Amino acid sequence: MDKIIVKGGNTLSGEVKISSAKNSVLPIIAASILSGDKCIIENAPMLEDVFVISDVLRSVSADIDIDKNSNKVIIDTSDICDCEPCSELVKKLRASFLIMGPMISRFGKFRISLPGGCNIGTRPIELHLKGLNALGAEVSVGHGYVEARARKLIGNKIYLDFPSVGATENIMMAAVMAQGETVIENAAEEPEIEDLAEFLNSMGANVTGAGTDTIRIVGVKKLKGTVHKPIYDRIEAGTFMVAAAITRSKIKIVGINEDHMKPIIAKLTEMGVSIEVQGQSLVVDGTGVLKPIDIKTMPYPGFPTDMQAQMMGLLSLVKGTSIITETIFENRFMHAPEMKRMGANIKIDGRSAIIEGADRLTGCEVKSTDLRAGAALILCGLSAVGSTEVTDVYHIDRGYVNIERKLQGLGANIYRKCI
Ligand code: EPU
Repeated sequence: MDKIIVKGGNTLSGEVKISSAKNSVLPIIAASILSGDKCIIENAPMLEDVFVISDVLRSVSADIDIDKNSNKVIIDTSDICDCEPCSELVKKLRASFLIMGPMISRFGKFRISLPGGCNIGTRPIELHLKGLNALGAEVSVGHGYVEARARKLIGNKIYLDFPSVGATENIMMAAVMAQGETVIENAAEEPEIEDLAEFLNSMGANVTGAGTDTIRIVGVKKLKGTVHKPIYDRIEAGTFMVAAAITRSKIKIVGINEDHMKPIIAKLTEMGVSIEVQGQSLVVDGTGVLKPIDIKTMPYPGFPTDMQAQMMGLLSLVKGTSIITETIFENRFMHAPEMKRMGANIKIDGRSAIIEGADRLTGCEVKSTDLRAGAALILCGLSAVGSTEVTDVYHIDRGYVNIERKLQGLGANIYRKCI
């Protein structure tokens, strides 16, 4: 297993290019099942999660060509003849569940092995299943599998108890070819949902309201193939914003949508980081005096849970007391003990973390427990005294394209050690 070694202390400068959003591309690849035609995803991020979801689709006979030189994913789902993807692959990636909506929509059935909990929480899927059921699917759970069948899906009004991103996506994808109108209320409003709607509409679907809490879908008979370029990854951009702040540097981040970045810009600005928006770029200046802040993670447009670990790393080095409250996942503080090993003063009290800024962090071996935790530990390593070895970097490779190369380009002393 690879390690990433960071020698702390370098100031960063220059510019970094942001890749397309992993959390847009995964549902979009799943949605390509809906049409029997060819779908092409341009500027796709070459990430482990993208490779795994492609393998999940291949396991039901989709033909997927990933061109790593041109960053294109070409998907042909015309030959799908099986509705039970390989369970070993499904277990590798929770987002495999996003094929439930497209499968029931196009084939009227699926059988997929149930996900277990994962490092950041139990992550049940009852909202996905309730939604599919409301559209007329008979859903059963047993022997470790979810199975569903539907002779015909019929539009319905569905109120989500919680604005789940995945449930909103699955229901949208199931509803695009259902008879009549579906209305999803208390829907997730994340930019990735809007991007999925744009992809579906370019296939011929009729989805309106994505990006708000009420999404309307009028069923159409058939969808066609399409070409789509996904949105930029707001979490990757946010991670590099924190890289500038934690190293007290000034860098340019190229490839952002200002609207999508607002929750992160607001919190970093409150801390004293200076941020200038230049079209689709951000100039982030972390050289000023930084102040402690409180953060509560919330569904979009609230502060994203996927930036919580990175902010904890930054606040560990800001004089004074900060409090982070995690409201989305019940177990997403596993980076805290690793940061404490580096000298951070963090106390966990239920869903809150109380952070007392330390003068410095010191490098040591730390374990990446999930994707964002791993990225946060790299950020801590950038400013720590001495050398930090981040292990279990396969988590990081799931969601960051060449993170060490992008940081090297900014002047960081970081490299990967293949073991
Ligand atoms: N939840 C339920 N029941 C459900 C569905 C969700 O209780 O039926 C709970 C979950 O257990 C969790 C909360 O609702 O506590 C939020 O879950 P949600 O369904 O919104 O998240 P997700 O679709 O599983 C996506 C991203 C995550 C991101 C969350 C929240 C993808 C592939 N994943 O997950 O991304 O944290 O939304 O914004 O889009 C990451 O990129 O590091 C990551 C974990």
